[in-house]
Amino acid sequence: TTDITRLLLSRIRDVADYPEPGVVFKDITPLLADPAAFTALTDALAETAERTGATKVVGLEARGFILGAPVALRAGLGFIPVRKAGKLPGATLSQAYDLEYGSAEIEVHAEDLAAGDRVLVVDDVLATGGTAGASLELIRRAGAEIAGLAVLMELGFLGGRARLEPALAGAPLKALLTV
Ligand code: PRP
Ligand code: MG
Repeated sequence: TTDITRLLLSRIRDVADYPEPGVVFKDITPLLADPAAFTALTDALAETAERTGATKVVGLEARGFILGAPVALRAGLGFIPVRKAGKLPGATLSQAYDLEYGSAEIEVHAEDLAAGDRVLVVDDVLATGGTAGASLELIRRAGAEIAGLAVLMELGFLGGRARLEPALAGAPLKALLTV
């Protein structure tokens, strides 16, 4: 375990039985409240942006916005929000995806992505991979290329990495922590 791994792990709080019985929620608010930990996280993700040759950073609403925006600035790249449906005022592309019960939909402003863009997607947690997978579809449909997917934490036991293989199509999936 490296220093940064230890630091990040120490600032993530496990909350039992939230939002429902049997689920352990990973609360990142202690990490956000600690500037040393938040800076270390931002630097690590910005290094991934640079290593993958990204030209834009996409953040996934809501927690992916908090992590992704400083990464974009640190790497000197534009930030593009992928929002839950109905929040963006301009012309959008939408992508529906399945949840355990029901479905969800995310959107991006069509003009924010184009051919020639290489996009790093940033989010806090990779669980089943549903959210990230839908964002990768959306980005490709907008004509852009996937530079990679970078998350603070991967919940390995949920199998998101395997589920995302087709959508990643060889692009790297970087998780700073795997639990
Ligand atoms: C959480 C988390 C990831 C997603 C991971 O977001 O922040 O975005 O779930 O789950 P998945 O891999 O199974 O799709 P959520 O929509 O719960 O809430 P948020 O708006 O607080 O980010
Ligand atoms: Mg989220």
